[in-house]
Amino acid sequence: MLTSTLDDLQARFAAACAQTRDERELDAVRVAYLGRSGEVTNVRRTIGQLPADERPAAGKTINDAVERMEAVLAAEQQRLEARAFETELQQRVDVTFPAVDPQIGTIHPIRRIFNDVCAYFERLGFAVVVGPEVEPDYFTFDALNIPSDHPAREGFDSFFITDNLLLRPHTSTMQIRTMLQHKPPIAVVAPGKCYRRDAVDARHLFQFNQIEGLLVARGVHFGHLKGVLTGMCRELFGADQQVRFRPSFFPFTEPSAEVDTTCPKCKGHGSDCNMCGGSGWIELGGAGMVHPNVLREVGYDPDDVSGWAFGFGIERLGLTRYEIDDIRRFVESDPDFLTQLH
Ligand code: PHE
Repeated sequence: MLTSTLDDLQARFAAACAQTRDERELDAVRVAYLGRSGEVTNVRRTIGQLPADERPAAGKTINDAVERMEAVLAAEQQRLEARAFETELQQRVDVTFPAVDPQIGTIHPIRRIFNDVCAYFERLGFAVVVGPEVEPDYFTFDALNIPSDHPAREGFDSFFITDNLLLRPHTSTMQIRTMLQHKPPIAVVAPGKCYRRDAVDARHLFQFNQIEGLLVARGVHFGHLKGVLTGMCRELFGADQQVRFRPSFFPFTEPSAEVDTTCPKCKGHGSDCNMCGGSGWIELGGAGMVHPNVLREVGYDPDDVSGWAFGFGIERLGLTRYEIDDIRRFVESDPDFLTQLH
């Protein structure tokens, strides 16, 4: 009785397997027969009705049948795999079909501005130098005439790593590093990342980029600074650009200034320009004549040489150049946005 039931079940199972056309169909057959509530389970349930001494033999008969069914299943699986492979081989590749363009990257707008500014200064004979983003407070503050009790330290609102190690809040660190390594004359620009504990909004990022400039030699004066920066702004924004200096304070320069350039959007007309807020000017950053204390700190003689330095925000230049109103756009990694800027 049990044997004939099982023979019939195996025969139906094998026939059903043979008719399947893919692995999904085969799996449905497996579930119907061998699954937890499949046909084999139903047969197993009948064992309970047998006299106790016949049950072990019945159990073994069923297990043997299951083993054979699993072998059938494995063979069918192979048949289906081979068949899928055959189909794949027979598929023709249409070489005339238009290809999908791969999406390739572009130079990031911030990098483009770095490249353009550096190219301008290299043409004037400046060298490009880069340095660490993690600095001792000596290069960040002390050597720049900002002693530890100086209130200007607070203004730089820095990320400290240890008591005297921090993420640099400006690229002016590179003034010290360069002057300690080389004797005057010095002409360098130092592009790079800076960090400050600023809340992120349309005008601020806690990680941003600056470019530092430093010229030290005999007879260097403020007029050179004005000429060089005017040239830079004309290169970046057009032939009619002007620069303007507003008196300011930095401990490492004397005199110090904030530098503005004509708003490239309204060409200085102001009124209702949304780029410059109607002032006609865009702020680039700080500059000034290198403080005698800084020159002395690096072993230069302030009676022999003089110099100027500037530090400009690259994102600031980017907002102006690309006429965008939110600095966060530069760090969102949105290819649709970034590929539009050149
Ligand atoms: N380091 C200053 C800042 O980040 C800018 C600056 C650089 C000012 C060089 C003067 C000279 O605010």
